[in-house]
Amino acid sequence: MARVAVVLGLNYGDEGKGKVSTFLAKNSDIALRCTGGNNAGHTVEFNGDKIVFHLIPSGILNEGTDAVIGNGVVIDPKVLFEEIEVLKEHNVDLTKLHISTRAHLIFPYHIAEDKLQEFLKGDDKVGTTARGIGPCYMDKANRIGLRVIDMYSDSFERKLRRNIQNKNKVFELYGFETLNEDEIVKDYLNYRDMMKPYVMDTVSYLHKAIEEDKTIVCEGAQATGLDMDLGDYPMVTSSNPTIGGIQTGSGLGARDLNEVYGVCKAYASRVGEGPFITEQNNEVGDTIRELGHEYGATTKRPRRCGWMDLVALKYAVRVNGITGLALNHLDTIGKLGTAKLCVGYKLNDKIYDESSDDIIGHENEVEPIYEEFKTKFDIKGEKDYNNLPTQAKKYVKRIEKHLGIPVKFIGTGPDNEDMIIR
Ligand code: GDP
Ligand code: IMO
Ligand code: MG
Repeated sequence: MARVAVVLGLNYGDEGKGKVSTFLAKNSDIALRCTGGNNAGHTVEFNGDKIVFHLIPSGILNEGTDAVIGNGVVIDPKVLFEEIEVLKEHNVDLTKLHISTRAHLIFPYHIAEDKLQEFLKGDDKVGTTARGIGPCYMDKANRIGLRVIDMYSDSFERKLRRNIQNKNKVFELYGFETLNEDEIVKDYLNYRDMMKPYVMDTVSYLHKAIEEDKTIVCEGAQATGLDMDLGDYPMVTSSNPTIGGIQTGSGLGARDLNEVYGVCKAYASRVGEGPFITEQNNEVGDTIRELGHEYGATTKRPRRCGWMDLVALKYAVRVNGITGLALNHLDTIGKLGTAKLCVGYKLNDKIYDESSDDIIGHENEVEPIYEEFKTKFDIKGEKDYNNLPTQAKKYVKRIEKHLGIPVKFIGTGPDNEDMIIR
C-alpha cells in the first residue's frame, strides 16, 4: 500500500468517503482529517452497527490506527466531545486521538452568523449546514480566529470576549438574538481543559511518521464541486476540499502523497442549493433517493439525486490528480433497471465533452448528453469483480474509458466489507 493515500470526494459530497477511508485504514498506521468541520457526515457501517463521523477520522475504528485532526479542520468542541462519547460507547481507545494546535475553533457566534448570513442572502442562499463553518473560516482569513493553541494563552479570554462583543453588535443591528458572553467564556475554558490530553503539534507528528515509513490515510471531507476555488462558487463551502486543502490542512508535502483516490457514486447527489446539471427532479430522482437512502448524514435533508456526470468528474480527476477511482453504490444502480451516464453537454448548439467556463452561470440551460445502460442486477455484498454481471462491468468500463483512470474500489453495499478491490 502507498505510504500516504488520500481519499477525496469528486462530486458534491456524500460519495462514501467514510466507508472508503475506514476500509483503507485497515492498512494504515494513521487516519487523518485535514479540511472542513462538522458540516461533514461520514457514515460507516459494520456488522449492522452504524456510526456517523463529523470531525474525527473514521479510521480510528481500526484498532491499530491512530487518528489525527489536522490544522485545516475547524472544530466545534461541543460536537467533538459528543463524538468522543459515541466512540467510547463503541469501546474505541481515545488515547489514539490527536488534535492539531493550529486547528481553528468554532464558537456559538459562528453558528449564529451562519444563519444570519443565509438570511441576508435571501433567494441566493447557499443552503449551508448551519454549523458555523463559513463564518469560522472567514474569521480565520480575517485574522480574528482563535485556534486550539490560543486557548492556552493568557490573551484567550480577552480576545474571545472582544469577538463576542463585536459579533453581538452585529446581531443587535439585524434584530438577531445576542449571545451570553460569560456563558461562552465559561464553556470554552472548560473545553480547554477537556481538550488538553489530545492536543499536539500534528505537523511534526506526521513528518516523524513519514520518516518512520508509517502509512497514512487522509480522509477528505466535502468535494470538488463544493471547493471555494474550483467548485460552483458561490454555492460552495468555505474551504478547499480538493488536493491542495489536504496539504495546507495537514502540513504534508506534495511528494509525500502517493495515491489520490477519488470517490464517487454510480449516480450523483447534492444537498443544499446550487447547480446540478444531471439532476433528476422527478420520479427517477425520487426512486434513486429511496433506493440509495439519500438523506443527509448531518442535517437529515433529502438529497437531490441524478445521474453520474462524467464531464464534471473528468474535471475533478484532473484538478486533484486522481490516481484511482472508488465507485460506490453500484448495487443501487442495479436496482434501477436502467441508468444513464452524462458524457457531454449541449449549450447553444455547441457540444462540450469537457468542462468549460462557457457553462458557468448557464448550468440550467445545459442539455446533458446521455448514454443509457441496462442495469438490472443484484450484487449486494459482492467482493469479486469477476463475478459481476456483464451489465455492471460494461458500466464500470465506460466510466474508466471516459475518465482515463482505473476504478480500484467498487461499493456493493453500505457495509464496510461490501467492497470489490481491483
Ligand atoms: P461521505 O460523506 O462521503 O462519507 O458519505 P455519507 O456517509 O454522507 O453518504 C454515503 C452513504 O452511502 C452512507 O449512508 C453509506 O453507508 C452509503 N454507502 C456507501 N457506499 C455504498 C455502497 O456501495 N452501496 C450502498 N448501498 N450504500 C453505500
Ligand atoms: P461530506 O464530507 C454534502 C454543502 C452544504 C451546502 C454547502 C455549504 O459529508 O461529504 P457549509 O455548511 O459547508 O457552509 O455548506 O456545502 N456541504 C455538504 N454537502 N456533504 C458534505 O460533507 C457537505 N459539507 C457541506 O449542504 O450546500
Ligand atoms: Mg456525508
